[in-house]
Amino acid sequence: MTRIAVYPGSFDPITRGHEDLIRRAFTFADKVVVAVAVNVAKQPLFTLEERVALIRQAAADPKVEVRAFDGLLADFARQVGAAVIVRGLRAVSDFEYEFQMALMNRNLAPGIETVFLVPAFDLTYLSSSLVREVARFGGDVSQLVHPAVRQALRQKFPK
Ligand code: PNS
Repeated sequence: MTRIAVYPGSFDPITRGHEDLIRRAFTFADKVVVAVAVNVAKQPLFTLEERVALIRQAAADPKVEVRAFDGLLADFARQVGAAVIVRGLRAVSDFEYEFQMALMNRNLAPGIETVFLVPAFDLTYLSSSLVREVARFGGDVSQLVHPAVRQALRQKFPK
């Protein structure tokens, strides 16, 4: 039986932290479906198509599937036959929102467990919003994102 994990998020853009979590998910999953939210709270920097394409380059692996999803994550996770939803926990500040979301998702899809993964120590401070901000002001993001993402950020913020 293939154990499927869904890893949802905005991925605006994917960072080395996200890539690290995808790799870690393979300790308990055979396949990871990276689920890119169509509707994100704020206006994203990258379009849905750009976010999906960048993940496909940064996390290129036959066991990784990248899909956009609209509507409820719980419905999407059920549709793809996921056993677990993976989320990253970086700091205490993440906890309350993540806890609420996990409980709501369990309410909506009782058979699917949320699993929290802790990123590598040196990636703990990393977030897509910080990467966007550093890139916006011309800072070096080469350690923080895949080269394809760095290139895409350069195009968004030409010097
Ligand atoms: O990377 P993010 O922005 O923290 O990801 C949040 C995301 C997209 C995973 C969350 O907003 C989500 O699941 N949205 C889909 C709609 C949904 O199911 N909402 C209820 C969650 S309890």
